[in-house]
Amino acid sequence: MKNRISELLSEIQRFEAESKDHIEDFRLKYLSKKGVIPSLFNDFKQVLPEDRKEMGILLNELKQKAQEMLDIQQTRFAGVKEEKAQIDSSLPPKKMTGGRHPISLVRRDINSIFERLGFKIAEGPEIEDDFHNFTALNFPEEHPARDMQDTFFISKSPDVALRTHTSSVQVRVMEQGKLPIRIIAPGRVFRNEAISARAHCIFHQIEGLYIDKDVSFADLKQTLYFFAREFFGPEIKIRFRPSYFPFTETSAEMDVSCNICGGKGCNICKYSGWVEILGCGMVDPNVLEACGIDSNVYSGYAFGMGIERITMMKYQINDLRLFFENDLRFLKQFEQLV
Ligand code: DAH
Repeated sequence: MKNRISELLSEIQRFEAESKDHIEDFRLKYLSKKGVIPSLFNDFKQVLPEDRKEMGILLNELKQKAQEMLDIQQTRFAGVKEEKAQIDSSLPPKKMTGGRHPISLVRRDINSIFERLGFKIAEGPEIEDDFHNFTALNFPEEHPARDMQDTFFISKSPDVALRTHTSSVQVRVMEQGKLPIRIIAPGRVFRNEAISARAHCIFHQIEGLYIDKDVSFADLKQTLYFFAREFFGPEIKIRFRPSYFPFTETSAEMDVSCNICGGKGCNICKYSGWVEILGCGMVDPNVLEACGIDSNVYSGYAFGMGIERITMMKYQINDLRLFFENDLRFLKQFEQLV
């Protein structure tokens, strides 16, 4: 019993309450009728007569210490309450809202540039079927992008997957058949990639689509040039390189002059002076037809850009993972940008 008492004594002395509930737990455990200390008093009856005096003293001491500790902790928390009561609730609040995430800032800026040109924002589902994500976009049956390595499938036959690009929204809008079309579609996309500084399994894209009579590649170029100047500033240069996408013919990729080194060459642009920011092209007639649009009457252009890439360029961020970790040290750097 002596050992038990000294164990309890040190336990009690170490006690530090974290809340009022915590203090009540303490009282229940040690001092309530069924608590540890009263039950020791019960056991006291079995203590040998010659040990009774010593045990009695120790037990009473233990009880007293527990009571003292309870009092101390209760006063501590009573104090807290008083302090709280002194808060002046009529004062104007401190800034309680957080800042915007850099991806949201850039998405909003891009949206607003295209909105000024008359583009409307469109949305589509993040969970897509094979038709909208691939087939209608003219992906051949055996195209590697359909492979399990890139796509997160939810079910097989019928194929349902997380969309791998926002180009699926093109199909959804075209299917509605309201022409002409002038939309941008921002959203999250998903790919089965190993996470690294340069790749992630979730990222954001903005898709653009313009369908009307007599739309030409010159219209596409001029629109994207306007975008680049508005977004990066009047000094920016752009260039187009031929490329391939199943859903566009002609296809191109657009580079902008590196805004970090001004085109002189640095590690961001890999010393080329240029950074690729988007893919684009004239909508392939097969895509128009798959969506019920007469390709003899209508033509159009499309483009798609990754928001992360553009944000990294704009704010000189060198690791993609920072966007998804919600580390306040990173996010707070954007707090002032509203
Ligand atoms: N969907 C393409 C991708 O995820 C990007 C893209 C390229 C979109 C060319 C387009 C386009 O609309 O015309 O890599």
